Amino acid sequence: MNDVMTLSQKADALEQQMSDELDYIVIKSRLYTLADADPSPPPNAAALMAQNPKARVLMGDDPRLPPMPEKPTLIDFFKYRFGPCMHLLQSARHAVNGGLSEKMVLACLLHDISTIGFIRGDHGYWGAQLVEPYVDDEVTWAIRAHQVLRFYPDESVGYEYPQSYVKTFGADYRPDPYVEEDYQRMRKHKWYMSGRMITVHDIYSFDPDVHVVLDEFTDIIGRNFRQPKEGLGFDNSPVAHMWRAMIRPAKYL
Ligand SMILES: [Fe+2]
Ligand SMILES: [Fe+2]
Repeated sequence: MNDVMTLSQKADALEQQMSDELDYIVIKSRLYTLADADPSPPPNAAALMAQNPKARVLMGDDPRLPPMPEKPTLIDFFKYRFGPCMHLLQSARHAVNGGLSEKMVLACLLHDISTIGFIRGDHGYWGAQLVEPYVDDEVTWAIRAHQVLRFYPDESVGYEYPQSYVKTFGADYRPDPYVEEDYQRMRKHKWYMSGRMITVHDIYSFDPDVHVVLDEFTDIIGRNFRQPKEGLGFDNSPVAHMWRAMIRPAKYL
């Protein structure tokens, strides 16, 4: 009987331990609270813990999110962290149909990864930075450039200022001066047309009836994205911390 009790006690203890492990406090980064226009001081971890002595601030994986593999690949980020990505998949297929090179198809596939997985504002700059160590320089350049070029027409390839922008930003919207300055620089760059091609295959690509799956691009990713063997976030690259921020977006420190 004693043995049975012991086993039962062990089970209780294990259960308690498991529920304790789920007892955690999330303290958001300043960026999230600023995006909610909340200028108040950050929550005080000690005060929150005083109310709930068993809880700890989150320093590991966030149980609310899908777990990531130990050595995550780009495809794992698409699966477990990026939101719906049909716009990117359709852009990439549109680029294939337009006869673009594999690396430019990859650029189209990745051009908005910051919008779907990281930070919206200046998403072309963030997105280019995220992939810079893993792709051809021209891909990085083009992703950065699409941020800027989409605001400027180019009749030579039939690209007009998007009507959707008139509706979304208002007819009187003008890009910020740093965008205009970048446009002047990018217009003269040898890879201008690569950046421009992203905008061409970006704007006209969305069709709610066309369904594309990521598997279609597995080979192109394999040949054109230098997946680090340690996993994105753990390869000691200059941007590894940015990928880790997507793995654990609520990590306290
Ligand atoms: Fe974009
Ligand atoms: Fe886009």
